[in-house]
Amino acid sequence: MENAVKIARAYTGRPGVLAFEHAFHGRTFMAMTLTYKEKPYKAGFAPFNSDVHRAPFPYPYHGVSADAAYAAFEKAADPKTLAAVILEPVQGEGGFLPAPKEWLAKVAAWCATHKVVLIADEIQSGFGRTGTLFASEQLGLVPDLLLSAKGLGGGMPISAVTGRAEIMDAPAEGGIGGTFGGNPVACASALAVLDLFEDGTLLKRAKALGDSVSARLEGWKQAYPVVGDVRGLGPMRAFELVKPGTTDAHPDAARALVKFCWERGVVILTAGSYGNCVRLLFPSSSPTSSWRRRSRFWKPA
Ligand SMILES: Cc1ncc(COP(=O)(O)O)c(C=O)c1O
Repeated sequence: MENAVKIARAYTGRPGVLAFEHAFHGRTFMAMTLTYKEKPYKAGFAPFNSDVHRAPFPYPYHGVSADAAYAAFEKAADPKTLAAVILEPVQGEGGFLPAPKEWLAKVAAWCATHKVVLIADEIQSGFGRTGTLFASEQLGLVPDLLLSAKGLGGGMPISAVTGRAEIMDAPAEGGIGGTFGGNPVACASALAVLDLFEDGTLLKRAKALGDSVSARLEGWKQAYPVVGDVRGLGPMRAFELVKPGTTDAHPDAARALVKFCWERGVVILTAGSYGNCVRLLFPSSSPTSSWRRRSRFWKPA
């Protein structure tokens, strides 16, 4: 995230970055500044970085339509001062909100017109979690820079900024780097992960899991008035708990559900700016999957 902003600034010669409501981009300083939620991510850690602008993210369930969000976005910053717009194609910590296709297309066109670098943060949504390698593929988005981490390393610490050469080459040599960059063990793990995607088995399984969980969640929505909205992309799914008969957030219900599951040996995680979403992320590989046979790094014991 930090490197993507540095690259975009070096390329455009402009300082500004625009991020969205409900966004989560990380915990280091620029990333934290771009993150939306105050508690627990920002409270007590001020002062934050400058030149950060904010616009609404479409959230139809809470009354923010794609059109209204776009109208506010257009007015949120002067493009002449803007290096980058950063967005999560499916917001993660924000409660698994997928960006509507038509809104994304308009934001991307606006960035292209004003030569603003469009950064897709797929740190949470990437590597099969939505049923395709990247969520952007399903949403018709071709970002200028793409961020990946989490799933890329299969548990090892590695992250990547991927982008077009003329943008990536803008910083001076040595401007981007770090003590742990290119760690061979983490790189080997990421290469093994890429091998796993080669035959398509993982994505097929991810899609099937997505269909099955989405049918189950829709059933819950019909059966339980406390389940107000269910949404996501592929197997990256969440449900939003509300006070029955309203769309008012019910974070106590989410907390109670987490506790209930925990006491029965199931670890689940809440999300959302109102603390009332429960998110589901599945490992897409099964113990019998073909990864052992396929991975060039696998040696039988
Ligand atoms: C969308 C997104 N971006 C970035 C990050 C990286 O966060 P951190 O700085 O905590 O590693 C995360 C982690 O959850 C994330 O979901």
